[in-house]
Amino acid sequence: MILTDLDKKLFTLHTKNITYQMKVDEYGFLLHTYYGERIDDEDMSKFIQYLWRGFSGHPYEMNGRFDWSLDTLPQEYSTYGSGDYRSPSLHVINTDGSSDCDLRYNGYEIIDGKPGIKGLPATYGSSDEVQTLKVELLDKISGIGVDLYYSVFEEKDIITRSAVIKNGGKGRVWLERAMSMCVDYNIVPDFDIVTFYGRQLGEKFVERTSLRHGKTVMDSLRGSSSSQQTPFFILCDKSTGETQGNCYAFCLVYSGSFMTEVEKDQGDQVRVNMGIQPESFRWELNAGDEFCTPEVIMSFSREGFGQLSRNYHNIIHHNLTRGKYHLSRRPILINNWEATYFNFTEEKLLKIAEDASKLGIEMMVMDDGWFGKRDDATSGLGDWFVNTKKLPSGLTKFCQKINDMGMKFGLWFEPEMISEDSDLFRAHPDWVLRTAGRDGMLGRCQFVIDMSRGDVVDYLYNSISSVLSSANIEYFKWDANRQIANAWTALLPAERQGEVMHRYVLGLYDLLERLTSSFPNILFETCSGGGNRFDAGMLYYAPQTWASDNSDAFARLFIQYGTSFMFPVSTMGAHVSVSPNEQVGRITPLKTRGVVAMAGTFGYELDTNLMTDEEKEIVKEQVETYKKYYDLINYGDYYRLSDPYKTDRYVAWMFLSEDKSKALVNYVQVRAYSNAPAIYVRLQGLKENSTYVVNGAEYSGKSLMTCGIPVSSMMGDMVSLQIEVNEK
Ligand code: GLA
Repeated sequence: MILTDLDKKLFTLHTKNITYQMKVDEYGFLLHTYYGERIDDEDMSKFIQYLWRGFSGHPYEMNGRFDWSLDTLPQEYSTYGSGDYRSPSLHVINTDGSSDCDLRYNGYEIIDGKPGIKGLPATYGSSDEVQTLKVELLDKISGIGVDLYYSVFEEKDIITRSAVIKNGGKGRVWLERAMSMCVDYNIVPDFDIVTFYGRQLGEKFVERTSLRHGKTVMDSLRGSSSSQQTPFFILCDKSTGETQGNCYAFCLVYSGSFMTEVEKDQGDQVRVNMGIQPESFRWELNAGDEFCTPEVIMSFSREGFGQLSRNYHNIIHHNLTRGKYHLSRRPILINNWEATYFNFTEEKLLKIAEDASKLGIEMMVMDDGWFGKRDDATSGLGDWFVNTKKLPSGLTKFCQKINDMGMKFGLWFEPEMISEDSDLFRAHPDWVLRTAGRDGMLGRCQFVIDMSRGDVVDYLYNSISSVLSSANIEYFKWDANRQIANAWTALLPAERQGEVMHRYVLGLYDLLERLTSSFPNILFETCSGGGNRFDAGMLYYAPQTWASDNSDAFARLFIQYGTSFMFPVSTMGAHVSVSPNEQVGRITPLKTRGVVAMAGTFGYELDTNLMTDEEKEIVKEQVETYKKYYDLINYGDYYRLSDPYKTDRYVAWMFLSEDKSKALVNYVQVRAYSNAPAIYVRLQGLKENSTYVVNGAEYSGKSLMTCGIPVSSMMGDMVSLQIEVNEK
């Protein structure tokens, strides 16, 4: 709900449990007045503190008001050079080289539904579920305008933000920094900050610290969101935990270099800026042009991290992912990567598929190595035509053979990359993202292709489309196995090279949009050496992402725990692989590997021909179990029941049906201790007064939530249980 009080120039946004408010002050500045738990309709500007800030500047007309400076006032969008010394949202270099930008209120509009953002991914929704407020700001002298967009998903407790910068002046200007949003907390909170860092094979570790004075920055300069830091973070009260306490989260819908800057100033106020990383960004904006920033999805919960995560799961699943598969059943797949790596023949793959089909697996995915001259990582990328030495029948017939076994067929691509040893490179050495006159930088023996160029994107669209049209391909794994090191394009003049990183991302999105809409029946899964680009931007085009190249069940307990703070189970690629695990050498039971992979889009990544009959029986059971609980796992609510960072005894999570009548509790005993007392796993989200049946015994919902299910110590590390909970 969006309320406007035009006398007071007050804008109030309400969701079920959240209020966000802003007000235009007497001088025309758009001040932030409140964000947090839902309150009644009240003008919250009385909480703004006008503090002595003698040394900070203020606009000319306030001469003598020593208590008035943008340096202390909470704002909706801050600018560089305005007397506010905190981190700015916008830094413009004007035509005359100055950086002044004096943004004042210039009007508003309420839009039914939610407008899209040109060229960028964003949440969507019908006018029944979302309303948008646009507030216009303008610097009357330079003509620079900023439109701030606030979309309110009332039932989902979500507010999204983005900004459009417009050059309404007469000359060319440059954007040095154009953040998506700014939130100023003025009611002096003492926050903790929760962030998600990582590396390849170890993504989304959770880190919680006190927010210190100064700037805390989480970012990526890699041209991709990366696993180094995640474009998602949480601010919370010191006392906040999984099931109680105030917490705010911010999620950027963008897949390129990003920055989150959280600044606690000398007056203890906290500012959040989030958007495109400014270090590798400079955008020329000609008269009449506009620049759209990516979207930020914001949510708040007073019931701790669990509810906050479920708010994100809900919006991402229903209002961000798209296409045929976002709400429909996905096939259980087997991928040959860890089974064969590059070393496979048609015969070998058919044998794996044959075995897998007998176990109930529904799709065979042929990974890297099927195209061009690709026998290892040194060559072939860019040559998207089948390697007939490996697949003598050709792709169409090979796919037909898989289909004849009753299985679907999927294919791996790495569209953004090019090998030096490839026909494509030999024909177009200038299509590589590297500086003219220099060798360029390699990563995994490959260059990044220059996706900032429209002709390159067109070429890729045509060459990939012709492969997709040549056979009954029903799944597309979109990989990207290195990040950008030198962003220079042959097509732009020297003074516009600062645009390349963002133009690359726009090119990437363009190609994704064209391919996903031309091939609506294909299930797309993105990947970047695992979860190196697992972000909300990519999920707009492909409803799932391979969460990590580390498929060890123990490591996955942490990776999937961290990922679950923002992303729903239906987006998280998770497979069962061999033991000892190929990445860490750990030995874990097959059963537990299955339980852990069932907290994601389930599949296998191994050679079924090497399995014993006993193992094959276990796989059959796992496949049946996953099919049985598919709806509960993928459409139910997800609850974290433990924190793997706090105990090494167990990790537990549950899926609960929407009507709260059915749950599946998953429990992994991480370490066995001798003579250890039982663990009581407290459930969440049940109906307090209902009776539930667990392992044949009856419990009230309340007792399961306050006392928990007792689980006795079992023999061995990494052993697991799946426990059904049914309302009587
Ligand atoms: C990346 C992916 C793997 C596999 C290889 C192929 O590392 O994450 O799953 O596809 O590339 O080269």
